[in-house]
Amino acid sequence: MSHLSRPLSSAIEAIGSTPLVDLSRLTRDVDGRLLAKLEYLNPGYSKKDRIARQIIEDAEASGELKPGQTVVELTSGNTGTGLAIVCGIKGYPFVAVMSKGNSIERARMMSALGAEVILVDQQPESAPGQVSGADLELVEQETLKIVRQRQAFRADQFRLQGNFRAHYLNTGPEIIYQAGGKIDVFCDFAGTGGTFAGCAAALKEHNPQTKCFIVEPEGAAILAGEAVTFPNHRIQGGGYAMAHLPLLIRNHIDGYLQVSDEQAIEMARRLAAEEGIFAGFSSGANVAAAMELLQTSFKNKTAAVLICDSGLKYLSTDLWEK
Ligand SMILES: Cc1ncc(COP(=O)(O)O)c(C=O)c1O
Repeated sequence: MSHLSRPLSSAIEAIGSTPLVDLSRLTRDVDGRLLAKLEYLNPGYSKKDRIARQIIEDAEASGELKPGQTVVELTSGNTGTGLAIVCGIKGYPFVAVMSKGNSIERARMMSALGAEVILVDQQPESAPGQVSGADLELVEQETLKIVRQRQAFRADQFRLQGNFRAHYLNTGPEIIYQAGGKIDVFCDFAGTGGTFAGCAAALKEHNPQTKCFIVEPEGAAILAGEAVTFPNHRIQGGGYAMAHLPLLIRNHIDGYLQVSDEQAIEMARRLAAEEGIFAGFSSGANVAAAMELLQTSFKNKTAAVLICDSGLKYLSTDLWEK
């Protein structure tokens, strides 16, 4: 109720405390419960607002970020949107570096929020809407260049503990509180792995019996140790086929699940049509993976997932074309 008890000092305070919804329409033929945390209701319409706030506030506290210093980050759009909001309110110029493969809504939104957006060409073999690890490497090189040129603070979501801490201190505990402590299994589509790492640590600290699964795209399941045969999947925001994700805590991973583009898309469409939840590809992937868990090894159990971002971010893609 913290949001409702008084006027908030800024939109930064409106980040987090998102609702947890029982997807009882989707699971009507499944023996089990699937709880979904509506992260698209954050001010920037994604879970990444949380890490933007935490990374900036951690850097302010440690003195690493100086008043008025430029902040730079590589983003698929969501972290950049969160950083644009947080930096705009706190008075730090923000530069977002993004692959042209991500949907254009994201760039427009970041600019509207005051960010300088630098779009980086994809590798010749890549297609719009399909951002591979190789595309991300090009974005990384551009990001490093800009950080050097502007003596900026890099809000490095792949490495900074603020990404982990946002979910360990907030998202995970919120899920535990809202579910009355009863979560048997959690699964999450990994990009940086920060959401998985933070939520899994909180869930397992509360109940060591809670099982936590990493979700990856079919054909790009490198964390599961599989060969990468299809790096150009369509599940934006993750599945970069990077073998090493610094924030992941390996002994918190109880297993790996794979979801195809088609499964993620079908589930995103069902979420909209049956649950009134308008979300993106990765949310579809999370729900598809959780449904599989409830139908196999976790019958009659309670699963939790994040609804990572809004379907509005994909209006320029064919996600919503019938
Ligand atoms: C839409 C979306 N889904 C999933 C992820 C992956 O989350 P994480 O980086 O915490 O693993 C991201 C990350 O950018 C994202 O933007």
